[in-house]
Amino acid sequence: SGVERLGDMIAAAKTIVPFTGAGISTECGIPDFRSPGGLWTRNRPIPFDEFVASQDARDESWRRRFAMEPTFAASKPGRGHRALASLYRAGKVPAVITQNIDNLHQASGFAADHVIELHGNTTYARCIGCGQTYQLDWVRQQFEAEGAAPDCTVCDEPVKTATVSFGQAMPEDAMQRATELSQACDLFIAIGSSLVVWPAAGFPMMAKNCGARLVIINREPTDQDDIADLVIHDDIGESLGPFVGN
Ligand code: OAD
Ligand code: ZN
Repeated sequence: SGVERLGDMIAAAKTIVPFTGAGISTECGIPDFRSPGGLWTRNRPIPFDEFVASQDARDESWRRRFAMEPTFAASKPGRGHRALASLYRAGKVPAVITQNIDNLHQASGFAADHVIELHGNTTYARCIGCGQTYQLDWVRQQFEAEGAAPDCTVCDEPVKTATVSFGQAMPEDAMQRATELSQACDLFIAIGSSLVVWPAAGFPMMAKNCGARLVIINREPTDQDDIADLVIHDDIGESLGPFVGN
């Protein structure tokens, strides 16, 4: 089976780099973006330039974020996260590259420095001008007191979740480290991503082009299935559950 072949590839590999998308967190109750019921089937994304230009867009963005808070607050690592954390503890996985913003790799046991967040993190906020960080509770209190999304107390620019919106610059350090990891691994496992958002979607093929074996685990087909050495079109929890260890 695919899972047995994956087990053989994991056993044979020296350096495994996992690359995750929203599909690894759906069993944790967090919706993905493009499946039926996914976030972008319910709400249109608010591009960065709109967030910067419009108080209404900022208010709408924060209302959406606050509506999601009970979901994020209740979420716990799933089988996929736990399997990757086991391989990390075993010394096979140096770091995880993720498009996810939900902090669940950290919660599963990865050191913060070993979670390469390409699209940032939604569990705190940041000023888009000076980079000052804020707790979400502070943003909520300001929003409730003013009836509008707050600006930075230092520089007066808008405060946004510490995530990367469409049209916003990618974090340079994360891009650099993801590049190095992709080029240096011998097994790259893309898990739960539709692989349609770039530049993130470039890492699986970068790893393959640099000589790694490529595994894709995703319920739906992706555009990179044809360059993969193994494709598992199945549930992530079921596929990675057998690798949850000590
Ligand atoms: P998508 O929603 O595009 O893709 C998630 C994939 O996971 C889908 O192809 C699902 O079929 C699959 N999936 C979901 N649950 C699964 C499960 N339990 N088992 C197996 N497969 C499952 O999410 P991403 O690829 O992460 O960025 O999206 C990429 C980026 O688009 C996000 O980081 C976000 C979004 O816009 C920004 O907003 C910048
Ligand atoms: Zn500021």
